[in-house]
Amino acid sequence: MSQKILVTSALPYANGPIHLGHLAGAYLPADIFVRYHRLKGNDIVYICGSDEHGVPIMLRARAENLEPQQIVDRYHAIIKDSFEKFGMDFDYYGRTSAEIHHQTSQDFFRTLDNKNEFILKNENQLFDPEAGIFLADRFVRGTCPKCGYEDAYGDQCENCGTSLSPADLINPRSAITNAKPVMKETVHWYLSLEKYQPMLEKWIDEHPDWKPNALGQIKSWFKDGLKDRAMTRDLPWGVEIPEDVAHKAGIDSKGKVLYVWFDAPIGYISATREWSVKQGDPELWKKYWQQQDTRLIHFIGKDNIVFHCIIFPLMLKLHGEYVLPENVPANEFLNLEGDKLSTSRNYAVWLDEYLQKFEPDSLRYTLASIMPETKDADFSWKDFQARHNNELADILGNFVNRSFIFCHKYYEGKVPAIGTLSDLDKELINRLENAADKIGSIIDSHQYKNYVREVMDLTRFANKYFNDKEPWKARKENPESCATTIHLCIQTVRILGILFDPLIPFSAQKIRKSLNIAEQESWDAAKTLTLKTGHSISTAAILFTKIEDDVIDAEISRLQQVREAKNKNNKKETDEKAMIEIDDFAKLDLRVVKVLDAEKIPKTSRLLKLKVKNGDEERTIVSGIAEHYNPDDLIGKNVVIIANLKPVQLRGVESRGMILTAENNGELSLLTVMKDILPGSKIS
Ligand code: 2FM
Ligand code: ZN
Repeated sequence: MSQKILVTSALPYANGPIHLGHLAGAYLPADIFVRYHRLKGNDIVYICGSDEHGVPIMLRARAENLEPQQIVDRYHAIIKDSFEKFGMDFDYYGRTSAEIHHQTSQDFFRTLDNKNEFILKNENQLFDPEAGIFLADRFVRGTCPKCGYEDAYGDQCENCGTSLSPADLINPRSAITNAKPVMKETVHWYLSLEKYQPMLEKWIDEHPDWKPNALGQIKSWFKDGLKDRAMTRDLPWGVEIPEDVAHKAGIDSKGKVLYVWFDAPIGYISATREWSVKQGDPELWKKYWQQQDTRLIHFIGKDNIVFHCIIFPLMLKLHGEYVLPENVPANEFLNLEGDKLSTSRNYAVWLDEYLQKFEPDSLRYTLASIMPETKDADFSWKDFQARHNNELADILGNFVNRSFIFCHKYYEGKVPAIGTLSDLDKELINRLENAADKIGSIIDSHQYKNYVREVMDLTRFANKYFNDKEPWKARKENPESCATTIHLCIQTVRILGILFDPLIPFSAQKIRKSLNIAEQESWDAAKTLTLKTGHSISTAAILFTKIEDDVIDAEISRLQQVREAKNKNNKKETDEKAMIEIDDFAKLDLRVVKVLDAEKIPKTSRLLKLKVKNGDEERTIVSGIAEHYNPDDLIGKNVVIIANLKPVQLRGVESRGMILTAENNGELSLLTVMKDILPGSKIS
């Protein structure tokens, strides 16, 4: 019986192009799944769109001196185009700045409000007095208390990765005006996650089949105890809070919008509505969203788990009219040449750039082969080249090519008659007839890497079959066996064309065309050898041209340059201090002193107590050099100190000054002078 399936892929933020990390996460697996189910003849709708609200989009607009709408218009077009060229076969690709989306989100919010599902809470929040707006965490910048990075965000330090809240920042400033933020009272609509935790836990328990990465994260959220979450924000960009709802609460709705994570997933619904309108049946979306026999599946990356497995399902449940997800296949992250992908550093392979140089199928194939299903994976250009050349070209391309050449050369391009079957012929037929069901259930259970392995193994077997049957010999010695071989090889090409279709649809289409098959065939048609003896085939299209080393080397070297630039910048940040005036330097009283005595401070591993002679005066200095110097070796040595550093107590000893050392990779060396100069000599 035909199934009704609604598939969504996470809506990408429209504030930059998409890179291959995105694809491997939420898009390619969904597209494979959808293409498979379409071939199965199931009633499936695939929805995606651009996520056009949120703070990063506002920040980008400000940085470029543009309106947020201009930014999202630009990137919506770029992203949509890349997806199309990559073969992402959405039924509809919407956008959250669409009118229908605003209306759908507001209706949703209103329904929850009418059901009293929100709690209004007053709170104090940072406010930019110059811009006159409340500052979302991302809008506050300051010094990271952990690593000292001066440009940390209010929610995270990008330098050391620490999660922060704006109050943690040293010298907080507004990212918009640089003004010092002040605390101001505001009010927000909260969803009570805490109250519904038991219900959510029960629902999650009904899905033990979900991937461990999602279940692990969800359970750890439950363990910590869910906290109520504000579903509104004070921002000038987003879906405005419905005026009537604000009015009812006696609050001015001006400047208040829905939290981006409230409206974004509703984007799945509004895009389905828009699709329905375009289909000429504006109510059609309800068949998918509001009837319980729908299999709703959200494809996401692991950073979206909490929103799709806890918050959005709760919203759907509380609304009352919606189906809840059957599964939320979340992928882990993809790294690039051993390093984290980074949009801000331009350390990425951008899809639009990739598509200018290579075929979409090569990337689809590679990404599916290494898909980060259960743990982070790594994309390398060499591996990409190897998969393209040694698998797609040498195994699939070669099999199709040799079968076609033989058929043209000796059988005038017509499928020859099949004769008596050998054991090997039977084995091939058997494998072909069973492949569709086996591979189908692998795809349906979201094992994409396994799918690639299975379909490629079948192709390997087909190549081996060709080799073992030796048609070039059999042609003279046993023409019937030769004809049977070529008959079965062309049948195999057709079946592989179907089985590879969800994975490499562009190549599958070329295969169909070469075989003179006009219409795309169903998945189940791959279970039968349907080509008739005498069927005319066309010339084989070149499926895959080998990728040369220099092309790949150029890509590797571009990434290397990005990496080197980053290392240089990092070094600058950590090693170089701001310029000072000569007066600043003059504040330091640097002296050469002679060590008179040195001893370890008991119960410490690092500290030495030194007695030094500074002119006529003797003083004690504590220094953390015990792991590098023997006390006895220091006696009589000249060392350099800062003499006017304020005294400090270290382990009960007053230390007056600091001994200077040079450090490299943990190796420590005391500074000294080249001549035996008088103790107390000034350094300038
Ligand atoms: O993480 C992201 O890129 C979000 N824009 C995903 C949103 S998914 C859905 F909720 F819209
Ligand atoms: Zn930091």
